[in-house]
Amino acid sequence: MKKKVLVTGGTGYIGSHTAVELINEGYDVVIIDNLYNSEEKVLDGIEKITGVRPVLEVFDLCDHEMLGSFFSKNSDIAAVIHFAAYKAVGESVRKPLEYYRNNLVSLINILESMKKHKVPNFVFSSSCTVYGQPEKLPVTESAPLQPAVSPYGNTKQVGEEIIRDTVDADNMIKAIALRYFNPIGAHPSAIIGELPHGVPENLVPYITQTAIGIREELKVFGNDYDTPDGYCIRDYLHVVDLAKAHVVAVNRLIGGKNKAGFEVFNLGTGKGVSVMEAISSFEKVSGISLKYKVVERRPGDIEKIWADPSFANTELGWKTQSSLDVAMKTAWDWEKQIRKKS
Ligand code: UD1
Repeated sequence: MKKKVLVTGGTGYIGSHTAVELINEGYDVVIIDNLYNSEEKVLDGIEKITGVRPVLEVFDLCDHEMLGSFFSKNSDIAAVIHFAAYKAVGESVRKPLEYYRNNLVSLINILESMKKHKVPNFVFSSSCTVYGQPEKLPVTESAPLQPAVSPYGNTKQVGEEIIRDTVDADNMIKAIALRYFNPIGAHPSAIIGELPHGVPENLVPYITQTAIGIREELKVFGNDYDTPDGYCIRDYLHVVDLAKAHVVAVNRLIGGKNKAGFEVFNLGTGKGVSVMEAISSFEKVSGISLKYKVVERRPGDIEKIWADPSFANTELGWKTQSSLDVAMKTAWDWEKQIRKKS
């Protein structure tokens, strides 16, 4: 019998790529998504790639009753991967209560349902934002967490604490928090990828939309940082590599290989890349000269951060495979593919 994995937010960007990798690994995938920032047709893409169409239940995870009746019908779930959340840093500053309600109430509802229905394994989408600007780079999991600069970031910090306390109080539940650095790119088939609604907030979709002519020019936020070329530095990893880490985390929990009830892993390449290096990589793989302009720094931006992924490398046996160029090429292939259709 195939083991069933619940993927919340499974029609979203990282969720859909993870659904593909889980199906490839032989898991039975069930998705809950309210389609707030995604579309049902993503299921067509998952089916095209894997030959399997996951079940989708459309409802809001803040709806305790709906979630309760879902778990009553699906108490054979072996693991939950919780992606569903709001994720726009700037918007969270304007709408803090919406962020706290959505991201935290849904998390609490899921953990309560897992407890009630004795579903033991939980994987949480966390973020490198919990580190703020680290004093030491590359940043390890034991680096002190900094006060969050946005309500969004705070929901990730508080979310991790809620999970830790839940695991401490009830040894039936085991959890892994995965702290993502900057996921980019798309499935190499160009059948699924990132579909930002409205104007993208993140760098790579902004680059590809500019290159294809939807945006006039990329605004580069600052070139006077204390970095070798003056631009902000991030650790960009391919979304397929990131998706595979979730399969490893689920295998680890289901196989009882975790060494603590609650574990935390950095997911990144270990390489810092500046905004200008990211632009150059895009230009190289696309053959396009990107229109951009350097503007003021973006409030709340971290100057430089990249991961020390050695704990994930050794403990999980997971390592990123794709280079920045490959990730950029898949992002570009995806952008061209969606615009061809629409
Ligand atoms: C941010 C969050 C991260 C969150 C992610 C999800 C922080 C510090 N980081 O990542 O936790 O998971 O969003 O959306 O809160 N840039 C430009 N022009 C643009 C867009 C971006 O120059 O139009 C630059 C930024 O200044 C930054 C880099 O590109 O240096 C990456 O930005 P972005 O893709 O928005 O990701 P983060 O801010 O790193």
